[in-house]
Amino acid sequence: MDIKWTEDLTVGVDSIDDQHKELISIINNLLKAINRGDARDEIEKVIAFLKNYVATHFAMEETLMLRIKYPNDKFLEHERQHTDFWENFNELVAVFNNDHSLPLMVNTMKEVLVDWLVNHICQTDKAIGVFVKKQQSLV
Ligand SMILES: [Fe+2]
Repeated sequence: MDIKWTEDLTVGVDSIDDQHKELISIINNLLKAINRGDARDEIEKVIAFLKNYVATHFAMEETLMLRIKYPNDKFLEHERQHTDFWENFNELVAVFNNDHSLPLMVNTMKEVLVDWLVNHICQTDKAIGVFVKKQQSLV
């Protein structure tokens, strides 16, 4: 269930691509920890690290969009997707904290983290790269 980095995931903005690679590696570590049946507190540590990283990453992308004067409607839609993800992710963590059923966590995590992230990177984040390229060609 590992997420593999492929060229398809390249946005074309180095700061975003570097953080995406890191994000994918943290998610893969979390998946591995769960599959290995690591202790709960170990898994909690990876989740806490991931939460922190996601928050930093979303803030970076949003700041960047404002700085490059990204069209407002696209910015708002992008921000909404980040908020939706954040809510789903927190719900998932709450389920994990209350319920000891890891198989449930694995399935939901695949949808919430892996599918969402790959989708979001391939469509929404890539649009930032396209915009930046267009702006550069105008200079
Ligand atoms: Fe994004």
